[in-house]
Amino acid sequence: MKGILLAGGSGTRLHPLTLAISKQLLPVYNKPMCYYPLSLLFLAGIKEICIITTPHDLPLFQRLLKDGSQFGAHFTYRTQEEPRGIAEALLIAEDFIGQESVALVLGDNIIYGNHLQPLLLGAKERHGATIFAYRVKNPSRYGVVEIDSRGEPLRIVEKPKEFISPLAVTGLYFYDEKAVEMAKTLKPSMRGELEISDLNQLYLDEKELTVEQLGRGITWLDMGTHESLLQANQYIQVVEERQGLFIGSLEEVAYRQGWISHKDLEAMASKMEGSGYGATLKELV
Ligand code: G1P
Repeated sequence: MKGILLAGGSGTRLHPLTLAISKQLLPVYNKPMCYYPLSLLFLAGIKEICIITTPHDLPLFQRLLKDGSQFGAHFTYRTQEEPRGIAEALLIAEDFIGQESVALVLGDNIIYGNHLQPLLLGAKERHGATIFAYRVKNPSRYGVVEIDSRGEPLRIVEKPKEFISPLAVTGLYFYDEKAVEMAKTLKPSMRGELEISDLNQLYLDEKELTVEQLGRGITWLDMGTHESLLQANQYIQVVEERQGLFIGSLEEVAYRQGWISHKDLEAMASKMEGSGYGATLKELV
């Protein structure tokens, strides 16, 4: 399975923070925001990853993440010229995806909690598409999924004006090899974007959509506003400080997946010795 990290957009709701730098490179406690969603792909065992960003931010992402070989992974880069929707990522990455299945993650989503890895691996093996739903107080900001009493999806609506369900669709999507062809049939929405919710609805219409509900033991955060960005920073700081363990460390996940050796990890820790991040890596070693 291939992976896509979508880190485009102009981050207008975070101005002036994002006037000069990509939202997905902003700090979330001790690491850049995009580490967290990338670590989800790593946890799912996906190491062939296409990073999509704006032409302006591309050199910064390349400087940070390089070709991925330092993590035993492989990163390639594509650009999205204008924010024309999440589903456009599948078209931009068409040649990268080829005939394979693909997991797409948004660069500003954190999902953290117990028993997450089996959910990811299950989604990876499943036919059709899998999305993850999470109960939120304010669902109208998101794509929302309505389910029946057996948990089967009935419909998906992007930013519904009226309440249909408290279940927001998180920014992590697993698709089979039909995704690119299906994305090609989408028409831009009222806001001029190829909506990922429309693609998910197409899978639903074909009865090929699985909705995994993330329970209250799992945390889902997105970081689109100043408040939610600060909350995410505080959340990660509180949990990491308390446990002395990482959330979303690419070095750690790569090591635990067996993609890099103990020696590699040690070398990476030494390089960052001066920072708290490096110190925690050292302890891990
Ligand atoms: C996007 C999707 C939405 C999803 C959300 C998750 O919203 O369109 O369906 O629930 O990401 O973060 P946007 O960030 O474009 O407002």
